[in-house]
Amino acid sequence: MSTVLTLLCLCSLTLWTTADGKVFTPELTSKIEAFVDNLIQCRGWWVCPWPSSKATRPGLEGSDWRTKVPDDRSRPLRLFNTNVPQYAGFPDTLTRKEFTSQLRYLPMATSPRDAWSYNNWMYALAGRVAEVMGKASWEELLQTRIYQPLQMTDSRVLGHDVQVTDNKMALPYVQLGNDLVLSDSSMYRIWPEEPAGAVASTADDMARWMSFNLQGGVTSQGVPLLDKKIIQDILSPQIIVSPAFLKPKIKRPQFPATFNSFGYGFGWFSASYRGYQVTWHSGGIYSYISYVTLIRDLNIGIYISTNGPGNSSSSVTYNEVFYYIADLLLGEEPWLTTANACQFPRPWNNATSQASNNSVIVPGTIENPQFYEGDYNNKLFGDIKISRNGSGELVVDYGRLTGMLRKTSGSGVLMMEVFGPMRFLTRRGDDTIYINMTFTDPDRRGRYQELHVSAPDLGDTDILLYERNSKYWEE
Ligand SMILES: *[C@@H]1O[C@H](CO)[C@@H](O)[C@H](O)[C@H]1NC(C)=O
Ligand SMILES: *[C@@H]1O[C@H](CO)[C@@H](O)[C@H](O)[C@H]1NC(C)=O
Ligand SMILES: *[C@@H]1O[C@H](CO)[C@@H](O)[C@H](O)[C@H]1NC(C)=O
Ligand SMILES: *[C@@H]1O[C@H](CO)[C@@H](O)[C@H](O)[C@H]1NC(C)=O
Ligand SMILES: *[C@@H]1O[C@H](CO)[C@@H](O)[C@H](O)[C@H]1NC(C)=O
Repeated sequence: MSTVLTLLCLCSLTLWTTADGKVFTPELTSKIEAFVDNLIQCRGWWVCPWPSSKATRPGLEGSDWRTKVPDDRSRPLRLFNTNVPQYAGFPDTLTRKEFTSQLRYLPMATSPRDAWSYNNWMYALAGRVAEVMGKASWEELLQTRIYQPLQMTDSRVLGHDVQVTDNKMALPYVQLGNDLVLSDSSMYRIWPEEPAGAVASTADDMARWMSFNLQGGVTSQGVPLLDKKIIQDILSPQIIVSPAFLKPKIKRPQFPATFNSFGYGFGWFSASYRGYQVTWHSGGIYSYISYVTLIRDLNIGIYISTNGPGNSSSSVTYNEVFYYIADLLLGEEPWLTTANACQFPRPWNNATSQASNNSVIVPGTIENPQFYEGDYNNKLFGDIKISRNGSGELVVDYGRLTGMLRKTSGSGVLMMEVFGPMRFLTRRGDDTIYINMTFTDPDRRGRYQELHVSAPDLGDTDILLYERNSKYWEE
């Protein structure tokens, strides 16, 4: 028996059970609806911009599952993982094969097995390994090996056989400054990194996917697709998460309950909630955020998906919805209710979010702009072009990422303010987040030879190096 409950966009609620499963009682259903409805009302920004006639099928699983290589000690485990090149995007002409063959240029951050670290790029590599082994494209394999046998008939690959502008898709909303706006569709093409986050799915299909995992690799028709042992390995912790991640944000006695993630399997976190073992993952691309949780001992799966705004408030909200539904299904008294959910995490945690303004910007024009101008290249991540526009401002062109450079008091340290379709990434409320572009190694004429790109406020922990006059996607 498996009982799977899915929530879509916090607007429609799907309660799904297998034929022999326990059916949700009307009482349980209306409680969950009331809880979600209350959050929609008080947060204000939960939008469902499609007409109700289309409301049965939209949704997206923007999961950015990440991986590790457990037994191959010859390869470093902790490789650089940065978002900035993902924002910039890759040319359509670069194949997945070419891209993954360049992954050897991704610098190593620590030696093998020293630390756990997210890495989306490695999931692109896993997709490529599947292509070689399965003798078909990742997109075809997903269709024939997973979607079809699991009857996930509405699931697609974003940017491949469905676009965010399609009628079937929930529209992608993001926060830009103090507004909620529709985002530019171009950035939802994540080629060639689709295996790391381009599964577009529906509540019903995700219910089938969760059921498949809960049943140990058996489809809802009872067809075994994967050895139970393999599913167990995938869902079980293979490594302990990093010390920073080990610190639970929600824990007793500060909060009435504890949610604690401690381990990582193959793209799944191992956690405990109120003493129950929980396996989960969340992921997002810009506006779309989704959250899959399995309470395997009780055959419960909960899927929550939203189409905006994709900022930290979205994750606070989907966590609340999870706690509430889990409490009801576990037979616990919910600690979040319609009376206190809107103020969450208050009164247990009253801290306000930190300002992200960068006080290092100094007014005035950048001296010797010609020292910065030119093309800087990274063998894996392509070209950043620095040039002067008609009014003499230094502008940055890096695929979809465009912007202008601002001055700091540090020599060679400039900060990029993002313009264009990705501007929302760096404009949150009244605050601006900058991308650090530090130029070093001037030649005899003063022209910088190296560009170091970092964006800690966008979640990047590593500094990427781009060099003048090196080759663009060579070989
Ligand atoms: C997230 O975006 C929404 C919509 O613009 C906004 O109301 C909310 O305050 C934002 N949250 C944070 C933490 O900035
Ligand atoms: C948060 O603020 C409320 C109301 O001012 C207060 O009752 C509560 O004790 C505070 N909580 C913490 C953890 O400081
Ligand atoms: C140069 O770029 C800056 C920043 O994007 C912009 O304000 C200015 O209008 C641009 N000048 C021209 C002539 O395009
Ligand atoms: C950040 O900068 C903007 C524009 O200069 C300003 O309006 C805002 O108040 C600043 N925010 C903080 C937290 O300093
Ligand atoms: C920018 O990054 C460089 C390293 O590339 C670092 O040394 C510098 O402190 C950073 N500056 C700011 C203002 O973030």
